Amino acid sequence: MGKKIVVITGSPRRNGNSFAMTDSFIRAAEAKGHEITRFDAAMMKIGGCHACETCFKTGKACSFDDDFNKIAPAILEADAIVFTMPVYWYSIPSQIKGVIDRIYSLVVGGKNIAGKECALIACCEEDDMTVLDGVRIPIERSAALNKWKMAGTVLIPGVLNAGDIYKTDGCQQAAALADKI
Ligand SMILES: Cc1cc2nc3c(=O)[nH]c(=O)nc-3n(C[C@H](O)[C@H](O)[C@H](O)COP(=O)(O)O)c2cc1C
Repeated sequence: MGKKIVVITGSPRRNGNSFAMTDSFIRAAEAKGHEITRFDAAMMKIGGCHACETCFKTGKACSFDDDFNKIAPAILEADAIVFTMPVYWYSIPSQIKGVIDRIYSLVVGGKNIAGKECALIACCEEDDMTVLDGVRIPIERSAALNKWKMAGTVLIPGVLNAGDIYKTDGCQQAAALADKI
């Protein structure tokens, strides 16, 4: 049966490597009958968590009303959440980190978000898989805390310039990820 999949990207490069893998995943997932809702966090206005703990007190997920409040309802409804991003300074790019931090609002707001699936598609310049730990570990641990099952990860090192991803099997791996959800 088709699932509701929310895809959240973190790169500001529309022609970049993680977007290419994202597009491959989405094409494959749609072909399998899944319903995709995509948010490109870097093209949205999304700040960090203020830790004010007034989540949902104003009727919206976050009292600081920016574009995160467009993503929150989709996450609540989703069967699966797929994060896609490059590595920035051995970590999660700020463009998507605000989204991840503000998932806190769903927890503080007492929403039942357990039981979803989660997946990660990521890439980096260096030819060293441990560089990807900077995004893999926080996503895996956050998923575990949220009681989300990791359906799969696609981690591609050694890609710097836009288009380098086509010298790897990253897009094929991203398409194959659709079979695991
Ligand atoms: C601000 C910034 C920081 C980066 N930090 C790292 C890093 O710590 N390690 C690494 O291997 N690559 C790093 N990179 C390279 C990107 O991860 C790489 O170019 C990736 O392919 C970009 O993905 P995209 O095309 O989807 O934007 C950095 C790039 C930028 C712009």
